[in-house]
Amino acid sequence: MKNLLRVTTLFIFSAVAGLSQAACVFDLEVGDNLKFNLTEINVSKKCESVTINLAHSGQLQANVMGHNWVLTKAADLEGVANDGMAAGLDADYVPLNDTRVLAASSVIGGGETTSIKFAASNFDSSEQYAFFCSFPGHSYSMRGNFIVSP
Ligand code: CO
Repeated sequence: MKNLLRVTTLFIFSAVAGLSQAACVFDLEVGDNLKFNLTEINVSKKCESVTINLAHSGQLQANVMGHNWVLTKAADLEGVANDGMAAGLDADYVPLNDTRVLAASSVIGGGETTSIKFAASNFDSSEQYAFFCSFPGHSYSMRGNFIVSP
């Protein structure tokens, strides 16, 4: 009985540990439409790093229906989306050397995937962050909250 209890406790502990590890990697998917499959991403500052895997499951090319994943403070979303539009596809619709951009992937088209990895330690858990696609006209719908816990 004692042994069984120990094994059960160990099993629960490793299940919880596995869960917290999984919450540092996020698989996002979007097709030829303007909705990420996730509208909220919760990360912990304890994550050694955060990985965003973005898959475009649609058919359309990047210049027609491109998608990327950009992270800013929520208050900077509109400004970065506007400046990103002006930066153009060659710049992945992300303004160059812009400190408001906390992370950004490349723009991908249908059938493509991309991935980015960044540190979580610099985020402030009292700050509001947002992620979005900066392809022209997409950010009004392709956006979500990026919530950081201590
Ligand atoms: Co998009």
